[in-house]
Amino acid sequence: MLTPAQKTNSAALAFLAAGSIWLLVGTLYGLVSAIQLVAPEFFNNIAWLMFGRSRPVHVNTVIYGFVINMLIGCGLYYMPALLKCRLWSETMAWWSFVLWNLAVISGPVSFAYGYSQGREYAEYIWSADLAITGAVVLLAINSVMTILNRKENFLYVAVWYFVATFLWTGFSYPLGNVIWHPSTGAMTGLLDSIILWFYAHNLPGLVLTPLATGAAYYVIPRVARTPLYSHTLSVIGFWTLVAFYTHIGGHHIIQAPIPSWMRNIAVVHSMVMAVPVFTVLANLWLTMRGAGGRVLADPAGRFVVAGSIWYLITSIQGSAQSMPELQRVTHLNNWTIGHSHIAVLGFVGFIALGCMWHVLPLIVRRRIYAPRLINMQFGLLTTGLTGFFVVLTAAGLIEGHGWYNGETVYRTLAEMPTYMGLRAAFGMSIIAAAVVGLYNFCMTVWRGEPFTPEYVVEPEEDL
Ligand code: HEM
Ligand code: HEM
Repeated sequence: MLTPAQKTNSAALAFLAAGSIWLLVGTLYGLVSAIQLVAPEFFNNIAWLMFGRSRPVHVNTVIYGFVINMLIGCGLYYMPALLKCRLWSETMAWWSFVLWNLAVISGPVSFAYGYSQGREYAEYIWSADLAITGAVVLLAINSVMTILNRKENFLYVAVWYFVATFLWTGFSYPLGNVIWHPSTGAMTGLLDSIILWFYAHNLPGLVLTPLATGAAYYVIPRVARTPLYSHTLSVIGFWTLVAFYTHIGGHHIIQAPIPSWMRNIAVVHSMVMAVPVFTVLANLWLTMRGAGGRVLADPAGRFVVAGSIWYLITSIQGSAQSMPELQRVTHLNNWTIGHSHIAVLGFVGFIALGCMWHVLPLIVRRRIYAPRLINMQFGLLTTGLTGFFVVLTAAGLIEGHGWYNGETVYRTLAEMPTYMGLRAAFGMSIIAAAVVGLYNFCMTVWRGEPFTPEYVVEPEEDL
């Protein structure tokens, strides 16, 4: 009898399950943080729930726990399927799963006790950094070996994005987390800020964006049942992402005394980011020509299309807020928090969920337990996120203009409880979506109606 680690796609399923669970845990910590921005005394000084601890748990859990887990799970399914072979090593994929999720678990545990490396998006303690690096290296080896052993010559662009994520993260994660300084995980002074934002920018740019883009490239043509519009456009989109996204982290610290060449490159190339963004979006949307109705009628397809629209909004906003003049108003206030949520949940999270709902039935060979629950999850997320975006952008503009006009923080602070209260309320809609999704996931795995997929590409040995 096969052990779980030998069963085809078992590691992919484990990553998807972990992503669904972390979505709920992560958003609950978001609510804990949000409540304190309305009523700071609410948790009566219980140390492990204080904002300084709950916020990093929230941010790291939703990023590393929810979106990345889910997108790795999707990729571990679609990469071998596209290459018409088995994953090179299911056991190695399980080790990646264990290492990755030990690191994610370390968040709520170590941050609760106040152990954190204190640099945004690089808070995990040293042992967790080692676990993540190990997981990434194993995923890189496994992906490369799967490609080398493939039965399909053509390397579809989704495979490019998936393997590239691990090849470059194997370098950028240890570098950005200053892994050679175990006690602090940091360098000193301005250099630390530059290194941190090089990495923290590459986290969305070279982990979240390629994983989400690869997943969208997999789902859209399958749901539309048409070939990809253009292979050339997909290659242009891939290489321009590498060319422009890698070195624009300086736009996070425009106001700091970084070298002016670094600032200029960061600002100019943030505008040029329009090239990879529009190339990818044009390619995906043109693939849907004449099949838009079919894609939107599919619950998973709808999620991915909505994710692509959030990507458009995120990127237009991102390029605009890279301009120093605009950033005088938008920097260091809730405007950026609005951007982060539409980016990580709207763009990446929606595509992760869409791809997960698409591949889950193919992995477990069971139909989705209740497709209308996917639609309900979509509605709850769209309501919550749109509310977040409007409320946080408005709050950010009030804060930013107050500061710009020389008003004290005490004046604008008095206006914030309404906005922060609305954010907490909209957040509950997102949490409800996480509950509905987790229920539907578990019921599909255990109770979904068994079926044989009609157009699934399978490794030969499995036929
Ligand atoms: C999967 C859904 C979510 C994702 C992907 C997500 C992502 C993020 C990210 C990336 C940040 C860091 C923002 C920055 O520093 O620029 C953040 C902060 C935050 N999020 Fe979320 N979030 C999600 C859901 C929620 C929910 C449901 C709530 C509230 C109920 C919430 C409340 C907060 C709060 C209070 C902060 C800190 C804001 C601050 O420092 O002022 N988030 N979130
Ligand atoms: C054309 C594309 C994009 C550009 C030019 C851009 C630009 C920016 C800029 C300038 C900031 C800093 C704002 C400030 O601190 O005042 C920022 C913050 C952020 N961006 Fe983007 N963005 C883009 C796309 C994305 C995408 C696709 C993601 C996620 C997948 C993302 C995630 C974030 C996050 C999480 C932050 C908050 C960082 C923090 O905590 O300070 N962005 N972005």
